[in-house]
Amino acid sequence: MPYKVMRLDLLLGGTALSLIKQSDIFTMSIVPYLSIHHFSDRGQYTMPLICITTRDGHKHNIQATTGNSIMETIRDAGIDEMLALCGGCCSCATCHIHVDSARLGSLPAIGDDEDALLDSSDHRLPESRLACQISVVEGLEGFAARIAPED
Ligand code: FES
Repeated sequence: MPYKVMRLDLLLGGTALSLIKQSDIFTMSIVPYLSIHHFSDRGQYTMPLICITTRDGHKHNIQATTGNSIMETIRDAGIDEMLALCGGCCSCATCHIHVDSARLGSLPAIGDDEDALLDSSDHRLPESRLACQISVVEGLEGFAARIAPED
């Protein structure tokens, strides 16, 4: 079930002041205008709910923002065990995750660079992906993954 919030964006040059109402909670943020996606004519903004399991087995349900990567979503949620050293440039493999096998087929195909980097991991599995190479889209609702052991 998509997580629905009400969102009002006030555009100011290249940035937007966003007022977000979720249940009875209001939050306010200033975001680059280009990061605003899927703003429907009814003012509803869908933020897929995903589940990330950290190495200790703890499950974190996170509201992801479309347009971000899974790596950015994990980092922005305050989970610090994923190093993501290259910042998403697909050159470090420290954002290695094991995707729930039921969701693997719905993801974009693995790229050559991503495939080569994953080969360097001792923990590569058939469901291995790099979190920085998976973009959050509305269809990602229910996505689940586990952060791979550190190499
Ligand atoms: S953050 Fe470096 S490969 Fe993903």
